[in-house]
Amino acid sequence: MKRNIALIPAAGTGERFGAGKPKQYVEIHGKTVLQHTLDIFAAHPQISLTAVVLAADDSVFAPEAAAFQTAAETVLLRCGGASRAETVRNGVNALLGLGLAAPGDNILVHDAARCCLPEAALSRLIDQAGSHPDGGILAVPVADTLKSGGSDGRIETTVPRSGLWQAQTPQLFSAALLQRALAAADLGAITDEASAVERLGIRPLLVPGDSRNLKLTLPQDEYIVRLLLAQK
Ligand code: CTP
Ligand code: MG
Repeated sequence: MKRNIALIPAAGTGERFGAGKPKQYVEIHGKTVLQHTLDIFAAHPQISLTAVVLAADDSVFAPEAAAFQTAAETVLLRCGGASRAETVRNGVNALLGLGLAAPGDNILVHDAARCCLPEAALSRLIDQAGSHPDGGILAVPVADTLKSGGSDGRIETTVPRSGLWQAQTPQLFSAALLQRALAAADLGAITDEASAVERLGIRPLLVPGDSRNLKLTLPQDEYIVRLLLAQK
Protein backbone atom coordinates (compact mmCIF):
# COMPACT_ATOMS: atom_id res chain seq x y z
CA MET A 1 0.00 0.00 0.00
CA LYS A 2 1.35 3.37 -1.08
CA ARG A 3 1.84 5.77 1.84
CA ASN A 4 1.79 9.57 1.88
CA ILE A 5 4.87 11.05 3.54
CA ALA A 6 5.25 14.79 4.15
CA LEU A 7 8.75 16.23 3.71
CA ILE A 8 9.14 19.70 5.23
CA PRO A 9 12.26 21.65 4.20
CA ALA A 10 13.05 23.88 7.20
CA ALA A 11 16.71 24.69 6.70
CA GLY A 12 16.35 28.25 5.39
CA THR A 13 17.57 31.36 7.19
CA GLY A 14 14.65 33.67 6.35
CA GLU A 15 16.75 36.56 5.04
CA ARG A 16 13.82 38.42 3.47
CA PHE A 17 11.63 38.08 6.55
CA GLY A 18 14.48 39.41 8.67
CA ALA A 19 13.38 38.31 12.16
CA GLY A 20 16.95 37.84 13.42
CA LYS A 21 16.30 34.09 13.44
CA PRO A 22 14.94 31.71 10.80
CA LYS A 23 11.27 32.57 10.16
CA GLN A 24 10.12 29.00 10.88
CA TYR A 25 10.94 29.74 14.53
CA VAL A 26 8.89 32.93 14.78
CA GLU A 27 6.06 32.45 17.31
CA ILE A 28 2.49 33.20 16.29
CA HIS A 29 -0.37 32.60 18.74
CA GLY A 30 1.94 30.69 21.09
CA LYS A 31 3.43 28.26 18.57
CA THR A 32 6.26 28.47 16.09
CA VAL A 33 5.49 28.71 12.40
CA LEU A 34 7.10 25.28 11.96
CA GLN A 35 4.89 23.78 14.64
CA HIS A 36 1.75 25.20 12.97
CA THR A 37 2.86 23.52 9.75
CA LEU A 38 3.63 20.20 11.45
CA ASP A 39 0.22 20.22 13.14
CA ILE A 40 -1.55 20.40 9.77
CA PHE A 41 0.12 17.17 8.63
CA ALA A 42 -0.11 15.43 12.02
CA ALA A 43 -3.88 15.99 11.98
CA HIS A 44 -4.44 14.67 8.46
CA PRO A 45 -5.63 11.05 8.36
CA GLN A 46 -3.97 10.29 5.01
CA ILE A 47 -0.45 11.33 6.10
CA SER A 48 1.54 8.41 7.57
CA LEU A 49 4.77 10.19 8.40
CA THR A 50 6.18 13.71 8.47
CA ALA A 51 9.91 14.31 8.02
CA VAL A 52 11.41 17.70 8.88
CA VAL A 53 14.72 18.59 7.28
CA LEU A 54 16.75 20.97 9.44
CA ALA A 55 20.08 22.62 8.78
CA ALA A 56 22.91 20.46 10.13
CA ASP A 57 23.96 23.29 12.48
CA ASP A 58 20.40 24.19 13.60
CA SER A 59 20.51 24.94 17.31
CA VAL A 60 17.05 26.47 17.68
CA PHE A 61 14.81 23.48 17.11
CA ALA A 62 13.82 21.94 20.42
CA PRO A 63 12.78 18.31 20.05
CA GLU A 64 11.83 18.30 23.72
CA ALA A 65 9.01 20.78 23.01
CA ALA A 66 5.73 19.25 24.16
CA ALA A 67 4.00 19.87 20.86
CA PHE A 68 6.66 18.04 18.93
CA GLN A 69 6.47 14.99 21.14
CA THR A 70 2.76 14.62 20.49
CA ALA A 71 3.44 14.27 16.77
CA ALA A 72 4.46 10.63 17.06
CA GLU A 73 4.82 10.06 13.35
CA THR A 74 7.47 12.73 12.88
CA VAL A 75 11.18 12.28 12.16
CA LEU A 76 13.93 14.88 12.23
CA LEU A 77 16.59 14.82 9.54
CA ARG A 78 19.55 17.13 10.10
CA CYS A 79 20.76 17.20 6.51
CA GLY A 80 19.62 20.55 5.12
CA GLY A 81 21.55 21.94 2.16
CA ALA A 82 22.64 25.34 0.90
CA SER A 83 19.49 25.76 -1.21
CA ARG A 84 15.91 24.60 -0.82
CA ALA A 85 16.38 22.13 -3.67
CA GLU A 86 19.47 20.66 -1.99
CA THR A 87 17.60 20.35 1.29
CA VAL A 88 14.80 18.46 -0.43
CA ARG A 89 17.22 16.24 -2.35
CA ASN A 90 19.06 15.35 0.86
CA GLY A 91 15.77 14.69 2.63
CA VAL A 92 14.43 12.38 -0.07
CA ASN A 93 17.73 10.47 -0.21
CA ALA A 94 17.69 10.10 3.59
CA LEU A 95 14.08 8.86 3.66
CA LEU A 96 14.85 6.22 1.03
CA GLY A 97 18.29 5.39 2.44
CA LEU A 98 16.96 4.88 5.97
CA GLY A 99 14.07 2.76 4.70
CA LEU A 100 11.53 5.28 6.02
CA ALA A 101 10.06 5.61 2.53
CA ALA A 102 9.63 2.98 -0.19
CA PRO A 103 10.23 3.99 -3.82
CA GLY A 104 6.50 3.78 -4.56
CA ASP A 105 5.41 5.94 -1.62
CA ASN A 106 4.23 9.47 -2.27
CA ILE A 107 6.37 12.31 -0.94
CA LEU A 108 4.58 15.62 -0.36
CA VAL A 109 7.17 18.40 -0.20
CA HIS A 110 5.81 21.38 1.72
CA ASP A 111 7.51 24.65 2.75
CA ALA A 112 7.83 25.01 6.52
CA ALA A 113 6.92 28.67 6.00
CA ARG A 114 3.54 27.84 4.41
CA CYS A 115 1.79 27.39 7.74
CA CYS A 116 -1.81 28.16 6.75
CA LEU A 117 -2.38 25.29 4.29
CA PRO A 118 -6.11 24.46 4.48
CA GLU A 119 -6.89 20.80 5.18
CA ALA A 120 -9.24 20.65 2.18
CA ALA A 121 -6.48 21.71 -0.21
CA LEU A 122 -4.18 19.01 1.16
CA SER A 123 -6.94 16.42 0.75
CA ARG A 124 -7.58 17.62 -2.81
CA LEU A 125 -3.93 17.14 -3.77
CA ILE A 126 -3.82 13.62 -2.34
CA ASP A 127 -7.15 12.68 -3.97
CA GLN A 128 -6.30 14.03 -7.42
CA ALA A 129 -2.55 13.36 -7.69
CA GLY A 130 -1.90 10.62 -5.13
CA SER A 131 -2.47 7.79 -7.56
CA HIS A 132 -1.13 9.53 -10.66
CA PRO A 133 2.30 8.38 -11.90
CA ASP A 134 3.29 11.95 -12.86
CA GLY A 135 2.35 13.48 -9.50
CA GLY A 136 0.99 16.98 -9.08
CA ILE A 137 1.19 20.26 -7.24
CA LEU A 138 -1.20 22.76 -5.66
CA ALA A 139 -1.40 25.92 -7.74
CA VAL A 140 -3.72 28.89 -8.22
CA PRO A 141 -4.58 30.65 -11.50
CA VAL A 142 -2.88 34.04 -11.72
CA ALA A 143 -5.44 36.70 -10.78
CA ASP A 144 -3.63 40.00 -11.38
CA THR A 145 -2.65 41.54 -14.69
CA LEU A 146 0.99 40.73 -15.41
CA LYS A 147 3.53 43.24 -16.69
CA SER A 148 6.98 42.57 -18.03
CA GLY A 149 9.26 45.41 -16.89
CA GLY A 150 12.36 46.91 -18.46
CA SER A 151 15.57 47.83 -16.62
CA ASP A 152 14.46 51.50 -16.93
CA GLY A 153 11.57 50.84 -14.53
CA ARG A 154 8.93 51.10 -17.27
CA ILE A 155 6.44 48.61 -18.59
CA GLU A 156 7.78 46.64 -21.53
CA THR A 157 4.60 44.73 -22.25
CA THR A 158 1.50 43.14 -20.73
CA VAL A 159 1.82 39.37 -20.42
CA PRO A 160 -1.40 37.44 -21.12
CA ARG A 161 -2.25 35.65 -17.88
CA SER A 162 -4.52 33.05 -19.42
CA GLY A 163 -3.13 29.59 -18.69
CA LEU A 164 -0.68 30.92 -16.05
CA TRP A 165 -0.64 29.43 -12.55
CA GLN A 166 1.23 30.32 -9.36
CA ALA A 167 2.89 27.22 -7.94
CA GLN A 168 2.33 26.44 -4.25
CA THR A 169 3.22 23.47 -2.09
CA PRO A 170 2.70 20.65 -1.26
CA GLN A 171 4.16 19.14 -4.41
CA LEU A 172 3.47 15.40 -4.58
CA PHE A 173 5.56 12.79 -6.41
CA SER A 174 6.53 9.18 -5.88
CA ALA A 175 9.77 8.96 -3.91
CA ALA A 176 11.48 7.21 -6.85
CA LEU A 177 10.46 9.90 -9.35
CA LEU A 178 11.45 12.74 -7.01
CA GLN A 179 14.83 11.18 -6.30
CA ARG A 180 15.50 10.65 -10.01
CA ALA A 181 14.40 14.20 -10.91
CA LEU A 182 16.53 15.86 -8.23
CA ALA A 183 19.57 13.71 -9.04
CA ALA A 184 19.37 14.81 -12.68
CA ALA A 185 18.60 18.50 -12.08
CA ASP A 186 20.96 21.44 -11.94
CA LEU A 187 19.81 22.33 -8.44
CA GLY A 188 20.87 25.96 -8.77
CA ALA A 189 18.33 26.44 -11.53
CA ILE A 190 15.23 24.92 -9.99
CA THR A 191 12.89 26.67 -7.56
CA ASP A 192 10.42 23.86 -7.02
CA GLU A 193 10.26 20.08 -7.27
CA ALA A 194 7.88 20.15 -10.24
CA SER A 195 10.41 21.99 -12.40
CA ALA A 196 12.94 19.19 -11.77
CA VAL A 197 10.31 16.62 -12.78
CA GLU A 198 9.35 18.68 -15.84
CA ARG A 199 12.97 18.48 -17.01
CA LEU A 200 12.49 14.73 -17.36
CA GLY A 201 9.74 15.45 -19.91
CA ILE A 202 6.99 14.67 -17.42
CA ARG A 203 3.96 16.96 -17.00
CA PRO A 204 2.63 16.87 -13.41
CA LEU A 205 -1.01 17.71 -12.63
CA LEU A 206 -2.11 21.21 -11.60
CA VAL A 207 -4.46 20.77 -8.64
CA PRO A 208 -6.42 23.86 -7.51
CA GLY A 209 -4.74 25.27 -4.40
CA ASP A 210 -6.00 28.02 -2.13
CA SER A 211 -5.04 31.70 -1.87
CA ARG A 212 -4.86 31.24 1.93
CA ASN A 213 -1.92 28.86 1.42
CA LEU A 214 0.54 31.72 1.41
CA LYS A 215 4.20 31.58 2.30
CA LEU A 216 5.60 33.75 5.06
CA THR A 217 8.24 35.56 3.03
CA LEU A 218 8.29 39.30 3.83
CA PRO A 219 7.60 41.07 7.16
CA GLN A 220 4.23 42.32 5.87
CA ASP A 221 3.06 38.71 5.33
CA GLU A 222 2.96 38.17 9.10
CA TYR A 223 -0.21 40.25 9.55
CA ILE A 224 -2.26 38.07 7.19
CA VAL A 225 -0.74 34.84 8.50
CA ARG A 226 -1.74 35.87 12.05
CA LEU A 227 -5.31 36.48 10.93
CA LEU A 228 -5.48 33.18 9.03
CA LEU A 229 -4.06 31.16 11.94
CA ALA A 230 -6.51 32.84 14.32
CA GLN A 231 -9.38 31.49 12.17
CA LYS A 232 -8.30 27.89 12.64
N1 CTP B 1 14.68 26.10 2.80
C1 CTP B 1 15.47 25.00 3.13
N2 CTP B 1 16.81 25.00 2.87
C2 CTP B 1 17.39 26.08 2.30
C3 CTP B 1 16.61 27.21 1.95
C4 CTP B 1 15.23 27.19 2.19
O1 CTP B 1 14.94 24.03 3.68
N3 CTP B 1 18.71 26.06 2.10
C5 CTP B 1 13.25 26.08 3.13
C6 CTP B 1 12.84 27.22 4.05
O2 CTP B 1 13.13 26.88 5.41
C7 CTP B 1 11.35 27.36 3.75
C8 CTP B 1 11.22 26.87 2.31
O3 CTP B 1 12.45 26.22 1.99
O4 CTP B 1 10.55 26.53 4.57
C9 CTP B 1 10.89 27.99 1.36
O5 CTP B 1 12.02 28.84 1.20
P1 CTP B 1 12.03 30.40 1.46
O6 CTP B 1 10.66 30.93 1.66
O7 CTP B 1 12.88 31.03 0.42
O8 CTP B 1 12.74 30.48 2.91
P2 CTP B 1 14.17 31.04 3.27
O9 CTP B 1 15.16 30.55 2.26
O10 CTP B 1 14.43 30.71 4.70
O11 CTP B 1 13.95 32.61 3.15
P3 CTP B 1 14.87 33.67 2.32
O12 CTP B 1 14.91 33.17 0.90
O13 CTP B 1 14.16 34.96 2.47
O14 CTP B 1 16.22 33.63 2.99
MG1 MG C 1 14.97 31.16 0.17
